[in-house]
Amino acid sequence: MRIDAVTLFPGMIDVPLSESIVGRARQEGFLELGFANPRDFTEDRHRTVDDKPYGGGTGMLMMAEPVYKALKSVRKKGSCVILLTPKGRRFDQKLALELAKKKHLVFICGHYEGIDERVTPLADLELSIGDYVLTGGEPAAVAVIDAVTRLIPGVLKKSDATVNETFTEGLLEAPHYTRPAVWRGKKVPQELVSGNHKLIAEWRRAQAEALTGKARPDLAPAKKKIRGAAKK
Ligand code: ADE
Repeated sequence: MRIDAVTLFPGMIDVPLSESIVGRARQEGFLELGFANPRDFTEDRHRTVDDKPYGGGTGMLMMAEPVYKALKSVRKKGSCVILLTPKGRRFDQKLALELAKKKHLVFICGHYEGIDERVTPLADLELSIGDYVLTGGEPAAVAVIDAVTRLIPGVLKKSDATVNETFTEGLLEAPHYTRPAVWRGKKVPQELVSGNHKLIAEWRRAQAEALTGKARPDLAPAKKKIRGAAKK
């Protein structure tokens, strides 16, 4: 997979995505990550990328032309162009799975107060990572690229590592424990040390349903199952 980011601050994406699993995925060629900086597509002496909003208001806006030219330098036929904005569709695991199937993603990261609205139609998708306002699209791009990269086949060594995890089945994950079996007086649940795989699977399912019902009752499949279970 190839991902390009249109950003004034490539380091905000490049640096965090050079570590750990995504860093290794890049080194091993599972992910090629590139950058196009609108500042490199300006023509004035000051390399201006922002200006005051028409109609007044605080802050500066990114100008359309440098963003357009930067996007044009990386966009190919078949690219999926994603504009990161708090006004976008909420990112979730289902969308991460869809995006992981694409060959080329391009993220447009707004900074300052955002981008000239006329750039918006250039995107196939407007995406938000949550109901809060970041200083720019870059930290959102990091989150989305991380979630997508770990779903590229071969990136996670264990092929089943993404099967039983949080959100894949619409449930939060059951708690996990590692050695020692007793830590500061706290024991690992008996079921997990029983060696009985059926019992372990049942325990994990029950824990996942209970946890989801308590922490995230809004997750629809969990709601249905818990309601069903309550009727019995
Ligand atoms: N840019 C600023 N805030 C954002 C958010 N919550 N999601 C995506 N992009 C953003």
